[in-house]
Amino acid sequence: HLPNATELEEFESLVTNHTMLHEQMVNFFRGFRRDAHPMAIMTGVVGAMSAFYHDSTDITDQHQREVASIRLIAKMPTIAAMAYKYTVGQPFVYPRNDVDYASNFLRMCFAVPAEDYEVNPILSRAMDRIFTLHADHEQNASTSTVRLASSSGANPFACIAAGIACLWGPAHGGANQACLEMLNEIGSVDRIPEFIARAKDKHDPFRLMGFGHRVYKNIEPRATVLKESADEVLGLLGVENNPLWQVAKELEKAALADPYFAEKKLFPNVDFYSGIILKALGIPIEMFTAMFATGRTVGWISHWNEMITNPYRIGRPRQLYTGADSRDYVPLNKR
Ligand code: SDX
Repeated sequence: HLPNATELEEFESLVTNHTMLHEQMVNFFRGFRRDAHPMAIMTGVVGAMSAFYHDSTDITDQHQREVASIRLIAKMPTIAAMAYKYTVGQPFVYPRNDVDYASNFLRMCFAVPAEDYEVNPILSRAMDRIFTLHADHEQNASTSTVRLASSSGANPFACIAAGIACLWGPAHGGANQACLEMLNEIGSVDRIPEFIARAKDKHDPFRLMGFGHRVYKNIEPRATVLKESADEVLGLLGVENNPLWQVAKELEKAALADPYFAEKKLFPNVDFYSGIILKALGIPIEMFTAMFATGRTVGWISHWNEMITNPYRIGRPRQLYTGADSRDYVPLNKR
C-alpha cells in the first residue's frame, strides 16, 4: 500500500521524530569491548530496548505495536551508527530532523565534532537504494527467526534482536562482509583460478561468498540493480579501476563461465555487489551486516505485524528422529 502525500509526510515525520535513542541506553555501549563486532552490539542493544520501552511491548495493543514498529525502524540507523562510533572511539553523533533517513545514517557514522559534515548526494542515494533493496525478502532465515520468536508472544524488541543474531551468519547477511574479505584474500586477478578451484573442491569447505542462493537459481533481480549501482558509484567516485573491483568483475566473469557454477545455478547474489558498493562508500567492512540489518528491519517488522494481527499458533518445526530406538542406562562406574 503506497501512501498518499499526506500519509507519507505523517510517516516520515513519525520516523524522523523517533530516531533518538533513550539517553540512558548510551551506557549499554560502554559495556562492550572496543573491538566488539557491531552486530554483537546491535543484538545486545536492540534486545535491551525491551528493558527501556515498556510502553510498547504489549503486542495485543495496536497502538503499542505501532509505537514499537516506528521506534525500531527509526532507531536502527542510530544504533548501527553508535555501534560503529563506539568501535572507533569517536563521540556519538545525534540524529537530525532536517535530513533524510539515509543521509542521517551517513552523518551519524562519519560526522565529527571538529568540522561540519556534508552528505554526498551520490552516497546517500546509493545508501537509500541499499536500504530499500535489503528491506524484505520473503521467508529467509532471519525473517523466519523473527516470525518463530514472535509466535511465542515475545516482545517486538526481543524478536528483532533474534533476527539480527540470525542475519549475522556468513551464509546469510554476514556474506557481504565475508565476500569483501574473500576479495581481499584473492588480492589479484591472477589468483582467481586458485579460488575457483577451491570453491569447486568437495573436500575444501571454502565457498565463493556472494554467490549462490537458497531460492534463486538465476541472477537475482537485486543483484542486477546493485551491479548498475556499483558501476555508477565507482565511476562517480573515480574508483572504477581499483584492484578490488577488478578482482570482483573478473571473478564474476570466471564463475559465470565455469560449468560447475552453471550446473549448480550459482550466480552472484545481493551480497556480492552490496559489499563492493559499501566499500566504495567508505563504510567499514565490519558495518556491512549492520547495514543489512538496518534495511531488513522494515521487512522483519512487516512480517511481525502481519503475523500477530492474524490468528497464529506457536511455531514448532517438525523433526525426523533418526537416533537409537532405546539405550539402557549404564552407571557411571561402568562406562
Ligand atoms: C542472503 O534466503 C534469502 O533470501 C537470503 C537473502 C535475503 O535477502 O535474506 O537473499 C540474503 O543470505 C544471500 C545469500 C548470501 N550467502 C552467501 O553468499 C554465502 C555463499 N553461498 C552459499 O553459502 C550458499 O549458496 C547458500 C547458503 C546461499 C545457499 O545454500 P543452499 O541453497 O543450501 O545451497 P547448497 O548449499 O545446497 O548448494 C548447492 C550446491 C552444493 O554442492 P553439492 O552438494 O550439490 O555438490 O552448490 C554448492 C554446494 O556445495 N554451492 C557452492 C556455493 N553455494 C552453493 N559452491 C561454491 N560456492 C558457493 N557460494
